[in-house]
Amino acid sequence: MAVLLAGGAGFIGTHTAVEFLNAGYDVVIADNLYNSKSAAVRRVEEITGRSVAFYEIDVCDKDALRKLFSEQSIEAVVHFAGMKAVGESVAKPLQYYSNNLGTTIALLTVMKEFGCRCIVFSSSATVYGKSNPVPLFETMPRGECTNPYGWTKWMNEQIIMDACTADPELSGVLLRYFNPIGAHESGRIGEDPQGIPNNIFPFITQVAVGRRPQLTIFGDDYDTPDGTGIRDYIHVVDLAKGHVAAVPYAKKHPGAKVINIGTGKGTSVFEMVNTFERVNGVKIPYVIGERRPGDLPESYANADEAEKLLGWHAEKTLEDMCRDGYRWQTLNPMGYGG
Ligand code: NAD
Ligand code: UD1
Repeated sequence: MAVLLAGGAGFIGTHTAVEFLNAGYDVVIADNLYNSKSAAVRRVEEITGRSVAFYEIDVCDKDALRKLFSEQSIEAVVHFAGMKAVGESVAKPLQYYSNNLGTTIALLTVMKEFGCRCIVFSSSATVYGKSNPVPLFETMPRGECTNPYGWTKWMNEQIIMDACTADPELSGVLLRYFNPIGAHESGRIGEDPQGIPNNIFPFITQVAVGRRPQLTIFGDDYDTPDGTGIRDYIHVVDLAKGHVAAVPYAKKHPGAKVINIGTGKGTSVFEMVNTFERVNGVKIPYVIGERRPGDLPESYANADEAEKLLGWHAEKTLEDMCRDGYRWQTLNPMGYGG
């Protein structure tokens, strides 16, 4: 029996593949390489000394999924397959809705045909919207999203919840990720964004290796202790382990379950920059810019539910995230293309 990682060649998928392989699972990856490289899958094999069955397919393509399911014995699906650039989703909403909802509908359809009853989905803290106070609890109402990418997460949660209601044997674990950063400690796999990074951490690592001259901090006048935005950064390896914990939980508990995956701790942009500089002994030049539209002053999880249900909590520190992310970027200054 194997786990299928849909979109598993990407940043979070490759780290998750390593943790499943290390835990003794067989791993199948389906990815159309829209935002990833096959080299990343080879590196997963190199790190673990195990092989991965790789299908270069569009996960919206039900026939391609049927072929995969007929060739592999899939006990659970972890669904990462989606487009994730917030700004691009505003410019190309139809592409985002079509792809991000299409992958989920195709997976659920083919899973049902093949009797696979377990899906773990990559959701996001973005579904909490902007009206809930921090820390964010799973019991809080979902809010209004500010962009099509966020709405696809919101709608995918709804689709999986409705599918679980209709099929009492189906289990869907909706993992709401906070801000995944860092890289595997080997320095062989990591985040490799195309073009100018949208998120702060890959931007900092690219400044650190000289790919970009400086960071722009999006506002220092928020109502936070140092005026900069606060987020719950989580090491991608901790996040990966959360998926390994979610599969046995899902197998035992039919129905839909929402679980935050964060550390429960908020870190400001200034704290992030200072920690990165101190741990790695590099300077990160920065300027203060305008606030970014749609940004929240603060977002961090209450992470108790993950401990209670999955026996999982984050173990790595902000220092680990900064050290491991910088190691990946220094060893691979141009990502997988370098
Ligand atoms: P990523 O872009 O590195 O990985 C997504 C993978 O899905 C890529 O390899 C891409 O090629 C693949 N993909 C996209 N559409 C596909 C399709 N139709 N068929 C097959 N493969 C397809 O992104 P990531 O950072 O690893 O994120 C993984 C998931 O987690 C995404 O769904 C993302 O929205 C979600 N998420 C990410 C973050 C974050 O900060 N990175 C936060 C919250 C949620
Ligand atoms: C962003 C997205 C969110 C998505 C998440 C993960 C927006 C408005 N939000 O969230 O929908 O789920 O990424 O992909 O795009 N910052 C800077 N300078 C930068 C980049 C960011 O100062 O160059 C600041 C931001 O203002 C924020 C913090 O750093 O305070 C974290 O930003 P980022 O990494 O983009 O994550 P989110 O804003 O949480």
